[in-house]
Amino acid sequence: MSIRIIGTGSALPEKIVGNRDLTELVETSDEWIKERTGIGSRHISTGETLVSLTANACERALENAGREAADVELLLVATCSPERNIPCAACQVQSAIGANQAVAFDLNAACAGFLFALNTAWAYVEAGIYKNALVAGGEVLSKIVDWTDRGTCILFGDGAGAVYVEKCETGGILGFVQHSDGTKGDVLKCDSRALKNPYVDRPMEAQYVQMDGREVFAFAVRQVPASIQEVLEKTGIGAADIDLFVLHQANKRIIEGISKRLSVDLDRFPINLDRVGNMSAAAIPVLLDELNRQGRLKSGMKLVLSGFGAGLTYGACVMEW
Ligand code: COA
Repeated sequence: MSIRIIGTGSALPEKIVGNRDLTELVETSDEWIKERTGIGSRHISTGETLVSLTANACERALENAGREAADVELLLVATCSPERNIPCAACQVQSAIGANQAVAFDLNAACAGFLFALNTAWAYVEAGIYKNALVAGGEVLSKIVDWTDRGTCILFGDGAGAVYVEKCETGGILGFVQHSDGTKGDVLKCDSRALKNPYVDRPMEAQYVQMDGREVFAFAVRQVPASIQEVLEKTGIGAADIDLFVLHQANKRIIEGISKRLSVDLDRFPINLDRVGNMSAAAIPVLLDELNRQGRLKSGMKLVLSGFGAGLTYGACVMEW
């Protein structure tokens, strides 16, 4: 038994910010950003919220699947940029779309969040607890990015994507691997509130994304191909049999490095980060939705999905479309 993706959806903020716009904020250039990252522009919220974007993406996924919100049994939202600590984003999305029967909760594994949420849905269905799920990844990273730090503000974008999955007897997700390494947590972090109560008052730390870009880069090009190899060995499928590698969209040079290590042509790695930047948990489902709506995903195709990011967290799954 497994789960199969029946429908996809996505939503992006209206405002597009190009690299040249960023030169008004920090000392950088269009050439530098394109050469080092492959990013040309990104969507940035001027009012859209994590909940409004994710709810739109979920509604589009349900519409694409031809299913009703009222019949959804599990609703997972992967995010590291929720509007509220409580209630969780998934409960707010549930209310917005009317998925009244669903159990809803959030999952934070940063840029690997969508993949981990998809695997969680798989586990619930495999255990016979639920028959279907809406799995979303949404981020409004622009509110946790330091817009004076040229090392990070050029990278990130806002958006949301979602998939609707159902139990299936054959095909669907064929296997997955996932890993976490909390000892390397400091290379990409964003602090929450400082401890402040009547008994202690610790000074506030910066509440913006802080990153050691070189460390993150080295981690990604080393661990992501290793986890893809691991899931291919686990499922007994060769890299040559995979039609598309749908990777987290962080940096074009990271994707090139992974394609080289796997000895797989770059044209089997679809890329949209040039238009949307790094949207953390939203990256994979937004890319999947674009590919689906472009008609590039045909029944029976084999895909590898792979996410990686802060935590550190990383993993991969193989699925038959
Ligand atoms: N514009 C112009 N110059 C910049 C710049 C920018 N936006 N950001 C950094 N620089 C400068 C640095 O200050 C440094 O200058 P110096 O040599 O005078 O000190 C120089 O460029 C090289 O910096 P470095 O950090 O070594 O660049 P890099 O080639 O490693 O590229 C990243 C920086 C952030 C693009 C790259 O490390 C990266 O993409 N890492 C992965 C980050 C990521 O994907 N994070 C999310 C994972 S989910």
